[in-house]
Formats: sequence, C-alpha cells, structure tokens
Amino acid sequence: YRNVRVALLGGGTVGAQVARLLLEHKEEFASRVGASLELTGIAVRNLDAARSADLPKELFTTDAESLILGADIVIEVMGGLEPARSYILQAINSGADVVTANKALLATHGTELFEAAKRVGAQLYFEAAVAGAIPIIRPLRESLAGDRVKRIMGIVNGTTNYILDKMDTEGASFDDALAVATELGYAEADPTADVDAFDAAQKASILASLAFHTTIPLESVHREGIREISGKTVELAKKAGYVVKLLAVCERLTDPSTGEEGVSARVYPALISREHPLAAVHKANNAVFVEAEAAGSLMFYGAGAGGPETASAVLGDLVSAARRHVIGGPGLGASTHANLPVLPISAITTRY
Ligand code: NAP
Ligand code: HSE
Repeated sequence: YRNVRVALLGGGTVGAQVARLLLEHKEEFASRVGASLELTGIAVRNLDAARSADLPKELFTTDAESLILGADIVIEVMGGLEPARSYILQAINSGADVVTANKALLATHGTELFEAAKRVGAQLYFEAAVAGAIPIIRPLRESLAGDRVKRIMGIVNGTTNYILDKMDTEGASFDDALAVATELGYAEADPTADVDAFDAAQKASILASLAFHTTIPLESVHREGIREISGKTVELAKKAGYVVKLLAVCERLTDPSTGEEGVSARVYPALISREHPLAAVHKANNAVFVEAEAAGSLMFYGAGAGGPETASAVLGDLVSAARRHVIGGPGLGASTHANLPVLPISAITTRY
C-alpha cells in the first residue's frame, strides 16, 4: 500500500473520535482507499487535557504548522475563525486537500477558502459542517445538481433541539437542558452560538448557497434564537397542540413588489403542529426537508451533533479525499475488497 499522511487539527469532541475510529479501523480504511491512512499527529492547545478516547500520547502536538507541512490531507476540527482559517490556507497552499467541520469559518470566510483551493487545484470537503452525521452537503452539491431546489426547511441545530425537546417532554429548565447538551458535547465551545442561532444561521447560509447555486452571505440570513423561549411558552404551546422548534428555512421567492426572484434564508423558533414530522425530531437529532422541482419532497434525518456521529461525516470526507489522492478524480467509488460472505436467510435474527 501507498501511504497517505493525515494531519488532524483538534482533538476535542469530534477530533478525538475521528482519531479513534481512524486508528481502530485502519485496515478497513486501507482497503476502501487502496492506501494506508497514516495519522501523523493531532494538534491541540493543551497536551494534558482529558480526551474522550484513549489515544497514543505521542500523536499529540501543539505545533500545528509543522504537522500541516508534512500532510497530504489536513482535517480541521478545531473550530473558531483563527487560527483555523490560516491553517487551512497553509494546508491548501502546501498542496494538501482539506476536510473541515467548521461551519462558522465556511459561512464567514468560505469564498476566500474555496478560491484559494481552486487556484491550486485542492479540494475542500465539509459534509460535517451541516447537520452532523446526516449526508446533506453531497446530496445538494451532487445528487440534486441537475434539479431545481425550491425550498429547504428543517432543524439544523442539535443543541437547541435538545434543549427545546427536554423542556417539552420533561419540563426541564432551559439552563439545565443546556448544561446537559454541553456535557454531551453537542454545544459549540461558546454555546451562545447555538442558543442565539448563529450556528443555525451559518448552516442556513451554507445550505442556501449550495441549493440555489449562489452566495448567501451570513449577514443576510434572518436570525432569531431561543433565549426568550420560557418553560411557560413551551407548556402553553403543548396545551394548544404545538411544539416549539428552531427552524431554518431557505427558499426561492418572488418579491411581490418588484416581481424579482430571489432567495430568503431565515432561522427562528416556530410553533409546529404535533402532527408534523418535525415534531417527532427529538434529542439532538436534525431533520432537513428538501423540495425540488423534479424530485419532489425529500427528507434527511439523523444525529445532528455528537463526537462519533460527526466523526462519521468527517471520515466519509477523508475517504473521498484519500481516494482522490490515490486514484485521482472526485474521490467517489466503493471498494470491493472486504470479501464478506453472503449469509443465508436462516442467519436473520432481527425483527424490524
Ligand atoms: P472542541 O471539543 O472544543 O475541540 C476543539 C479542539 O481543537 C480541542 O482539542 C482544542 O485543543 C483544539 N484547538 C482549539 N483551538 C486550537 C488552537 N488554537 N491550536 C491548536 N488546537 C486548538 O470542539 P468540537 O466540538 O470537537 O468541534 C470542533 C469543530 O467541529 C467545530 O468547528 C464545531 O463547530 C464542529 N462541529 C462540532 C460538532 C459537535 O457535535 N461537537 C458537530 C458538527 C460540527 P484542546 O483540547 O487542547 O483544548
Ligand atoms: N453545536 C452544533 C449543534 C454542533 O448543536 O448542532 C453540530 O453542528
């Protein structure tokens, strides 16, 4: 096997799980890619911090720049704008492809990063930046590229859904529910990003830009968070047959005053009928409905946050990037090396 050198920037909730899964399934990754994926190091701030996975101490470093220099692929799961932006630019300019889960960075400096990548022929992958484990970036970028998306609507923030769900189902207080969401690794380093819907607005900006093949700046996304939603509001909504959910809506609209077609992107807490499928999205799950002209309505559902869940999306991007490195092209394709036997019907023990 050839060797693909992978540098990991960040060893927190997501990064530690990316490293664990990459090391645990090393052989499977090698057979899927046709090359060995070598984790060359994990850049962190504090070498002594506790980690959510038992990882070899010698992998950790505080010298991110040296780590990037020797890498074929750089995974950025540090979060924040700087130094993440500078590190990604360094990676791109040194010839590496980049995988990132950083929606704040993409929604703020995405144009600069994509242009930098285009200039040198590098790729920037970001499936994990929106809706955690749910594949939504690829479907919008690739599968639906031949259709005309009319609307995207859904729940794209796990922390706020967790809080509102716990208030609705258990009568929990806002602060207690937020504390648990933070403990479980769903919240951003500064949970204001979740509660005041900056995170959801960043995701709406990314989704709308992809879906409508344009640039929807973060500043033009209307944003209202859930800070003002009290237990009383949730209770009254419940009595009236509704549930409160933080919604993201991005749609093609025609301005009635000018007749001009454009895009509206907004995030706000909404009352959803308890009969609506979004009312059944509990805990930190997300759900995204996409309405397209020819495809009709599509629904994407699953874990919107969490270490292993987000690591799944990051590692999917890593496999694409590594395949591109080894085989060329867009990095698509399935391997056929696993050599698993086909089992007889008598082997089925599960009842669905
Ligand atoms: P986190 O737990 O706060 O981890 C951040 C990691 O980056 C830590 O290991 C930290 O080092 C390291 N780091 C931060 N600043 C650094 C710097 N200047 N130099 C070197 N290392 C630095 O964050 P996370 O929850 O894993 O999230 C990471 C990214 O994934 C964010 O962009 C977030 O928005 C995104 N994301 C998170 C989730 C989720 O469910 N958590 C889901 C989807 C996307 P120390 O450990 O030493 O402090
Ligand atoms: N803080 C984010 C959320 C992480 O709760 O949805 C996933 O992007």
